[in-house]
Amino acid sequence: MRILSGVQSSGKLHLGNYFGMMRPALQLQEKGDAYLFIANYHALTSVHDSEKLRQDTLDVALDFLACGLDPERTVFFRQSDVPEVHELAWLLSTITPMGLLERCHSYKDKTAKGIAANHALFAYPVLMASDILIYQSNIVPVGRDQKQHLEVTRDIAIKFNNEFGEIFTLPEAYIPSEVAVVPGVDGQKMSKSYGNTINLFGSPKETKTAIMKKIVTDSTPLEDPKDPDSCNVFALYKLFANEEQRAEMEANYRGSNYGYGHAKKALLNIFNESFAPFREKREELSNNLDYVEEVLQKGAEKARATATLTLDKARSAVGL
Ligand code: ADP
Ligand code: TRP
Repeated sequence: MRILSGVQSSGKLHLGNYFGMMRPALQLQEKGDAYLFIANYHALTSVHDSEKLRQDTLDVALDFLACGLDPERTVFFRQSDVPEVHELAWLLSTITPMGLLERCHSYKDKTAKGIAANHALFAYPVLMASDILIYQSNIVPVGRDQKQHLEVTRDIAIKFNNEFGEIFTLPEAYIPSEVAVVPGVDGQKMSKSYGNTINLFGSPKETKTAIMKKIVTDSTPLEDPKDPDSCNVFALYKLFANEEQRAEMEANYRGSNYGYGHAKKALLNIFNESFAPFREKREELSNNLDYVEEVLQKGAEKARATATLTLDKARSAVGL
């Protein structure tokens, strides 16, 4: 079973990325043949600053390795080290209906906000389909916002297979429901484009401010019982907590004299405890960048070998 996912290097990774995509992908690395990559070509649709793109790409690499990516099990690489995806993207684009791309929410949302769309933003799902199909992926762990892109990928694969023969495996999205949409500090989906994130490796001060000051709660007085199910603090706490800790906080909410400040403190503590080993590992890795580069280059070599097999089949199928 091939498991594959990617994340754009267009800013700091946050708890939405961690619970929605990184943790499920890292758990799946035990279950099959895992590929994970840093989507720096996709990041270019929004980042036009070479230094920033390089730094963000390195940061994503450090974040994944710190959070438990095992390079012995998982093929970990930069998307741009496998330029073959572009050739396949071109072949795919020749059978992709315009209407399929025009219906994509990610594109429509951006243009609705007045962001001037470039061609790459429009063609984004075709490159994503190529990323997935070129490695013959079966399972793709992503957050719910990527579900439509997976559907587009399947449509493209089916159409290509129908026209040119069975070249591609049909992939499936893997979206565990409890982490499909992680809320941000304002209660909307956590996203770097909404400025409502809690970053994975922010400074202690940033993390404290995000949790203690920025998470929005209602104005129920300290003494009164509160509803855990409508609270952003509890929604985030339960992602870290075990059954017992979850039940305890729930009971505290429903009792009296438990304020949102108490819950925020508990969230800050559990986040810091859970991430302490990752922070330590990240610090170590940032002093050993040659090792990180070596991991990415070895990953690229393996990924490229797999990609070339599919690309050769697709080229021959279309008559090149
Ligand atoms: P952002 O919305 O911050 O730009 P990306 O689009 O780069 O994040 O997302 C990278 C991965 O993390 C994708 O698989 C996406 O679905 C997942 N993800 C991002 N934010 C969330 C969230 N709030 N809840 C669940 N998954 C998320
Ligand atoms: N579009 C994805 C995101 O914004 C990143 C991505 C690019 C991806 N190619 C992919 C995810 C292939 C899964 C599979 O998060």
